[in-house]
Amino acid sequence: MTQEPLQRVLVTGGAGYIGSHVVFALQETRRFKVISIDNHHNSHPESLARVSQIAKSNLPANATAQDKESTEIDAYQADLTNEAQVRAVFEKYGKGGIWGVIHIAAYKAVGESTEIPLTYYQNNVGATVQLLQIMSDFECTRFVYSSSATVYGTPPHIPIPETTRLQADSPYGRSKVMCEQILQDLTAAEPQRWRAISLRYFNPAGAHPSGLIGEEPRGRPGNLFPLLAHMAVGRVPPDLKVFGSDYPTPDGTCVRDYIHVVDLARGHLLALDALAPGSRIFAGVAADAPKIKAYNLGKGRGMSVLQIVEAMRKATGFEYKYEIVGRRRGDVPDLTADPTLAEKELGFKAPNDLETMCKDLWNWQTKNPKGYGQ
Ligand SMILES: NC(=O)c1ccc[n+]([C@@H]2O[C@H](COP(=O)([O-])OP(=O)(O)OC[C@H]3O[C@@H](n4cnc5c(N)ncnc54)[C@H](O)[C@@H]3O)[C@@H](O)[C@H]2O)c1
Repeated sequence: MTQEPLQRVLVTGGAGYIGSHVVFALQETRRFKVISIDNHHNSHPESLARVSQIAKSNLPANATAQDKESTEIDAYQADLTNEAQVRAVFEKYGKGGIWGVIHIAAYKAVGESTEIPLTYYQNNVGATVQLLQIMSDFECTRFVYSSSATVYGTPPHIPIPETTRLQADSPYGRSKVMCEQILQDLTAAEPQRWRAISLRYFNPAGAHPSGLIGEEPRGRPGNLFPLLAHMAVGRVPPDLKVFGSDYPTPDGTCVRDYIHVVDLARGHLLALDALAPGSRIFAGVAADAPKIKAYNLGKGRGMSVLQIVEAMRKATGFEYKYEIVGRRRGDVPDLTADPTLAEKELGFKAPNDLETMCKDLWNWQTKNPKGYGQ
């Protein structure tokens, strides 16, 4: 049986938390040649070496030369805000040489974005516009974009369908809304050329079950899961604060929709395939209408802060002591996805449960108590 040649896919931010798991999901199929661009602003190059290691160890005994080739990553340490560096990568493969792009790289700290908004807009919006221009120049017009549930701000209805108005309430969130709008305009201007999918992530958690790759935040983690893992492993003091217990939720604490990062990563594969010619999702769309879609990637189940603390206690054996303090500015009571559209149109599923997220996170953290490269 002859194999289809590998499709070259560029993953920006490939060394980061979500990026490394997306690279894993692509390599798992042995259908892609992954190119990664990352400046390692918030990641370690070791993560890419480890993903390759996972792909190699999953190769069957009768692996072909092409299968082996699919486990190697063309990794470029380059900055997406630097036009010459990005162009140089596209030059290497020539016009039409890259099949599609999964654009994951961005700055992502909501609080920080309120302090240095211009830096956020330049990195998240400016670099995206530049990337799209370079892609256009090189006849690469398939785009999967890492968006976020933060585009919904404080949503009027839970669970949140994709039709909800976009009304982010931080520069970070607005940078995601802006990029989605830029993609709308681009696909409307050139409906015959461009196809784009925005994936609105809810709250990714956990790690690859091998414990080889995982989330490695710089400094004190801002998100609950890595914070609890760092506390249990003794990396940060166990001074847990729960912000608000008087929200209109079952136990009064904030509710979020956590999704295992491996499930989230596999969603990118479905999105990429949905950009191929003849894809079902654009079947009914007129030739001169824009080919663009947005999908929520979540489980569709909300979990409260206290439920997460309890699940992590079970996984780690660490007795978390917490103090309930006042609400934190900008926190929304409930962000739970309606994932029906992604299920129906992409065939997306997020089977891993909360217990598995905690177990896999703890496995990663205990195997790498100080993160990558240490
Ligand atoms: N983690 C979450 O909770 C979450 C939720 C919703 C959406 N997202 C989005 O998912 C994406 C990835 O998030 P993550 O958690 O993996 O973050 P991350 O920081 O681990 O990964 C981002 C990667 O992009 C790289 N990068 C940033 N700016 C760059 C630039 N100018 N040039 C080259 N590389 C650059 C970083 O070095 C890093 O490796 C982001 O777009 C983020 O907004 C994340």
